[in-house]
Order: sequence, then C-alpha cells, then structure tokens
Amino acid sequence: MATLELSGISKSFGAVAALTDVGLSVDTGEVVAIVGDNGAGKSTLVKVLSGVHAPDAGTISFEGRAVTIPGPAAAHRLGIATVFQDLALCENLNVIENLFLGHELQPFRLDDVAMEVRSWELLRQLSAKLPTVRLPVAALSGGQRQTVAIARSLLGDPKIIVLDEPTAALGVVQTTEVLNLIDRLRENGHGVIMISHNMADVRAVADRVVVLRLGRNNGEFDARSTPSADIVAAITGAQDNQDGLVTRRAARVQDTAIGGEQ
Ligand SMILES: Nc1ncnc2c1ncn2[C@@H]1O[C@H](COP(=O)(O)OP(=O)(O)OP(=O)(O)O)[C@@H](O)[C@H]1O
Ligand SMILES: [Mg+2]
Repeated sequence: MATLELSGISKSFGAVAALTDVGLSVDTGEVVAIVGDNGAGKSTLVKVLSGVHAPDAGTISFEGRAVTIPGPAAAHRLGIATVFQDLALCENLNVIENLFLGHELQPFRLDDVAMEVRSWELLRQLSAKLPTVRLPVAALSGGQRQTVAIARSLLGDPKIIVLDEPTAALGVVQTTEVLNLIDRLRENGHGVIMISHNMADVRAVADRVVVLRLGRNNGEFDARSTPSADIVAAITGAQDNQDGLVTRRAARVQDTAIGGEQ
C-alpha cells in the first residue's frame, strides 16, 4: 500500500462539482505529477490534502491507516507539507527568519546561531546554492524563493511534499534549479506531488502523471515512456473525440493485436 492513498474523493462548492470520485496514491521516493486544464480540480485536490478543504466523500489513508485531515496542523502532524503557489514568504525578512517564522527554535527567544546552522543544513539537504541566508527574501530570484519555501516545508520532516505549480513564472535556469530540488527530495526519500501546467517539466522530473479532467481522473501515465501527445489528449479530452489521438492510437494497437491473432 502506498504511503498516501486517496480514493473516491468528491468535493462540491455549491453547484460546482470540483472533484468527483478522485483517486490518487503516492509513495515515498517517487514524484507524481498532477496535470489538468484550468478548473480541472488540481488546487482543490491540493487543498484536500493540506487540510484546507474537507472532502464531501471519499477516504484518505496514510501509512495504511484511515485518516482525516481536518486542518493544516493535522496535515503537518501526519507528515504532509504543502508549498502553495504564492509561497507565503515575508519579503522584508531574511532567509533564516522566513524558514523559522512560527517555528523559532527556542520559545520566546530566537536562537540566532542555531537557526543559521539549521538553515544551512536544510539548504544542504537540497544541494541549494544561496549566497547568504541573511539576505531579505525581496532580494532573491524566483527560483531562490521557491528554494526557501521548499526548505521551509522540510522543517517538520514530512513524508509527503506537495508543490503547487513550483515552476510557473520561472525562467529556464531557475526552472532547472527547482527541478533539481525535486530530484533531491525524491533521493532523500520524500514522496512528491507536483502540480504543473508544463509538460516538459513533468517529463523531466516526474515518475507518474495523473490527469484530472473536469474534476475526475482521466488517466494515469508513466512520465518517461508516454508520448506527450497522449498526456495532452487526456488533459484536453481529445480521446472523447473520434478524431482524438488516443482513440486513433488505441484503434491502431487493437488492429495490430487482431492482425497478430489471425
Ligand atoms: N472556494 C471555491 N468556491 C467555489 N468554487 C470553487 C472554489 N474553489 C474552486 N472552485 C471551482 O472548482 C473548480 C476546480 O477549481 P480548481 O481551482 O481546483 O482548479 P485547478 O485545476 O486548480 O485550475 P487552475 O489550473 O486554473 O489553477 C473550478 O470550477 C473552480 O471555479
Ligand atoms: Mg489551481
């Protein structure tokens, strides 16, 4: 059984069915990408995992036990950390202060030296390069900010890390840096769930791709061996269409199989 398993998850907002009967599993040491068009339900699924939204139906199991995630603190206790798209960093505070905001090592007193040492440890785990941890976040690049947000998510030593669009709005070099960080997370034994719109990033870093379409599962693919066109067809629903790529491909495979039997 996978470390984290969701099944039959449904969530409506009034008349809008954001998620219907959705399943997802992720194990430690793997990267699962969730892809889908705008409004497919990706962020809603992230919010169910991080305790922001309670699902209307479905089950969640963590390390083989049925669990509920009634709030962000519960997600944190279980070992599920989420880096939301806006990162929630404080621009005017430096890297150390951002890493430990709300988690200061000593109650009522900031132990500066210990926090700086721990900051470098966290960044080293990610093989992340930052010139100094005393710089305000406002002075960092987009990739460096993502690094700080991911490093912060490691503080509670989570098993599963959820990244919502970690490479959106980044340039090529910074995107590569963030994809390297995701590789490190996997090597260090974390399970990673990554939301993405970018097929190249997904193929570069993910092991499996889970497609959501109109709030439902619409296929699961091996990230390395599946042609991008097949994944895109599942995202757009082209396989519902007789002219769709997946339909044509499936027909071709079937023809070959029938031909082989004769
Ligand atoms: N808090 C909310 N109240 C009402 N409707 C919502 C709420 N959150 C999401 N929805 C609706 O649920 C559906 C799924 O939204 P969601 O944000 O999960 O999609 P998404 O896949 O993350 O899309 P995007 O790629 O645009 O971020 C959409 O129709 C959205 O309008
Ligand atoms: Mg979203």
